[in-house]
Amino acid sequence: MHHEPVMLNETLELIRSHSSHKKILDGTLGLGGYSEAILNEFDDAFVLGIDCDEDAIRFSRERLKKYEDDSRFKAIHSNFGSIAEIEECRNFDAYVFDLGVSNMQLELPERGFSFNNDGPLDMRMNQSEENMTASEILECTDEKTLAKIFFDYGEERHARRIANAIKHSRTKINTTADLVKLIRETLPQPLQRKMGTHPARRIFQALRIYINDETGELERLLDSFPKIAAHDVIIIFVAYHSLEDRIIKRKFREWQNDLLGKIITKHPLVPSEEEIARNYKARSAKLRAFCLSAH
Ligand SMILES: C[S@@+](CC[C@H](N)C(=O)[O-])C[C@H]1O[C@@H](n2cnc3c(N)ncnc32)[C@H](O)[C@@H]1O
Repeated sequence: MHHEPVMLNETLELIRSHSSHKKILDGTLGLGGYSEAILNEFDDAFVLGIDCDEDAIRFSRERLKKYEDDSRFKAIHSNFGSIAEIEECRNFDAYVFDLGVSNMQLELPERGFSFNNDGPLDMRMNQSEENMTASEILECTDEKTLAKIFFDYGEERHARRIANAIKHSRTKINTTADLVKLIRETLPQPLQRKMGTHPARRIFQALRIYINDETGELERLLDSFPKIAAHDVIIIFVAYHSLEDRIIKRKFREWQNDLLGKIITKHPLVPSEEEIARNYKARSAKLRAFCLSAH
């Protein structure tokens, strides 16, 4: 399993130049790519990794075992929106969040995140929670609400047509392939060709964001920072879609206006052409950083 960390050099450079880099919290541990690079780069750093996905915690602990044995690394299974309630998450010099899904989540068919791999239509990042799977959401949610989810979180122009087809489907949509098939049968061929992307891409994105309350978690996380920053800290976000990026941009502006600190990235940093050529999944990344001052 491999996940190429996105905008890693830019992230390391920001941590180096804006913090004492002794204690770093990696709030989206994933496969441990950022954490490993941070531990290698800063000899005396301690990294606390958080992820809401138990597979990610297991995989990273294995990968970073030697650092855990040296008490330089620890992993916690939690949602990052809850960090204000976790005592251990206070007093860090840098907080890093590389949002979205990891390759592990996308590539394991049984997780149900990908329209390219057939598997149960699940999409829950945190499978230990009692939240509903994507398949259950499609079954229990009314047509109007489904259309709103597809439009709000996927910016899908054909949201109403697809929601209608789902609610009138004679068979239950149990798998990723069932959903892809239904979308393909619903949208006329010429329209699909004009979309310039996989016809199911926006619907899958919308369901994933909704099921995992990704924007809600991000808002809760941002709101917790002024409470947990005990001294000056740098906060770094890498976001992959405009919904998340907009939330971060607005909050950073609000903090700056309230004199809580300073925006470091006046314009978001984006991956180099070379990085995009190497790792196409990096193409939509936007990195924003803020220096929060203690009050
Ligand atoms: C893009 S991956 C991170 C990859 C990582 N930087 C690396 O280099 O391996 C995003 C990770 O964030 C996790 N994640 C997403 N939302 C989360 C949340 N609300 N709380 C905790 N972890 C979350 C996902 O489970 C996923 O493992």
